[in-house]
Amino acid sequence: MSKLEVLHFPDPRLRKKAIPIEIIDSNITTIAENMLETMYDEAGIGLAATQVNIQKRIIVIDVSEERDQPRVLINPKIVSSEGIEQMQEGCLSVPGYYDDIERAEKIKYSYLTEEGELIEEDADGLLSVCIQHEIDHLDGKLFIDYLSPLKRQRLLKKIDKQERAQAL
Ligand code: NI
Repeated sequence: MSKLEVLHFPDPRLRKKAIPIEIIDSNITTIAENMLETMYDEAGIGLAATQVNIQKRIIVIDVSEERDQPRVLINPKIVSSEGIEQMQEGCLSVPGYYDDIERAEKIKYSYLTEEGELIEEDADGLLSVCIQHEIDHLDGKLFIDYLSPLKRQRLLKKIDKQERAQAL
């Protein structure tokens, strides 16, 4: 297994749209393994392939307290959603920034397992938020896209300052 480099906002590669996976072969399972290693190493609860510069529709998740329930979702889709919930979110691609984001409360979602089995399940709470957040990544979307213009501007200024500080 090998750890992958996580892209950081405002890297334009985070805006690329990932394409559906048609054949689940050893290349895909290796990507999944490396993504899981990267997610655990970075102490994240989810990671989308887009964040490691792979434009394929695959996400990995572990929302368990014990960090021992790795999940790999291939071609994940939101089938239906209901309700509204606000939860504080962060992102490995936007380090050090957290904010409350509104999303659907409950979702029905589908995905393929690494064995190619099509699964449909319900999710709520943290898992629901995490799946919505990661699928957004596959579509080139970041959680900070949901911020108000004022908050967004403040964040951009902060990141700009950090980049200039690093350049010194
Ligand atoms: Ni993220």
